[in-house]
Amino acid sequence: MTWRFDTRVVHFRPKGLERETPKAPPIYQTSAFVFSNLEELEAYFTGERPYLYTRYRNPNADDFARGVTALEGGEDGAAAASGMAAILAATLAAVKPGERILCPEEVYGGTYLLFTRELARLGIGVDFAPAQDVDAFARAFTPATRLVFLETISNPLLRVPPLPELAALARKRGAVVVVDNTFATPYLARPLEWGAHLVVHSATKFLAGHGDVTAGVVVGEGRFVKRAREIIAAYGCHLSPFEAWLAARGLKTLSVRMERHCQNAARVARWLSEHPAVARVFYPGLSHDEDRVHTLLGGRGGALVTFRLREGANVRDFFRGLAWIKLVPTLAGVETTVAHPASTSHRAIPPAKRRALGVTEGVVRVSVGLEDPADICEELARGLAAAEGNGERTMPSD
Ligand SMILES: Cc1ncc(COP(=O)(O)O)c(C=O)c1O
Repeated sequence: MTWRFDTRVVHFRPKGLERETPKAPPIYQTSAFVFSNLEELEAYFTGERPYLYTRYRNPNADDFARGVTALEGGEDGAAAASGMAAILAATLAAVKPGERILCPEEVYGGTYLLFTRELARLGIGVDFAPAQDVDAFARAFTPATRLVFLETISNPLLRVPPLPELAALARKRGAVVVVDNTFATPYLARPLEWGAHLVVHSATKFLAGHGDVTAGVVVGEGRFVKRAREIIAAYGCHLSPFEAWLAARGLKTLSVRMERHCQNAARVARWLSEHPAVARVFYPGLSHDEDRVHTLLGGRGGALVTFRLREGANVRDFFRGLAWIKLVPTLAGVETTVAHPASTSHRAIPPAKRRALGVTEGVVRVSVGLEDPADICEELARGLAAAEGNGERTMPSD
């Protein structure tokens, strides 16, 4: 067969490439998969072949989801384009129009918006209750409550709710339990062991771990994950092959990153709690939930530390006073970053409600990275001095 120029342009391909075995997984950067004949195509529809079209399923997305499934101890897992896509899929897998979701008052702002604004349009209702108080939470159930959505560690005040008790209560009332385990990761906590049906993650955070990926994942009971996968495909919120590849690559270092994140964060939390410009530090195990942190998080407090500036200190000057820690509306990178929840993650929550939840203007959340903790504290000291009105913004020498 001799091809003309234009055909050669389209069809060049090194011979035998597919026979090589790369050490790292290849990226299946393809929108669809090739079939040699109609019998092979039929094998996809009978379930003997897994891949047809990347929006439905892709090997890299599966590779990443399998990794998280193994770490969380689930039956199955499905990757999604973002944490919100994973939350949407998990939620729609469990609730129908006319049914209601019950979730903590301090739930992540994006989830709050999804539940109150978007799912409301589908006829799905939502009720909020204080997750720290099992009795109050129990009183918020309605006959239509079908899903209880929880978070392992709350944002930004980093409280750990009594999850096994809440999950048991939800199961008794016939509700499906979904836990957002983004802040804890399976390194610290595995909510499926406490009775959750599904776990969701913003893999954008610790699972991928380097601040260069937007991804999500749903893992847990097979029947719900199967439905979540169908929803991900139908809504077009699948994870792209390259992002999945990056996320799977990041996942391999989860243990070592989390261990160092936790050590550094505990040290930063202790240091902040002695600083005169700081009115209060929120860190699991330090400020509250001492026993729960031991039983639920294996004694580790996670990578995030939140603090409230003392009355009179200027939060804007705190951010201005920092020399190298960046103000970034995310968390979980290898670099330490700071965030202002009142103007980002909790912006969607009405101001009065936000204040009632303790998310005041002076609240700062630190995502503690992998740098030397002494350098992190020195840098935070710069910001705190500026907040107190006597800052000097100097970059440390290399
Ligand atoms: C706890 C939690 N859940 C879900 C999300 C949403 O994840 P994504 O931004 O990947 O959609 C976030 C984002 O910050 C989060 O903090």
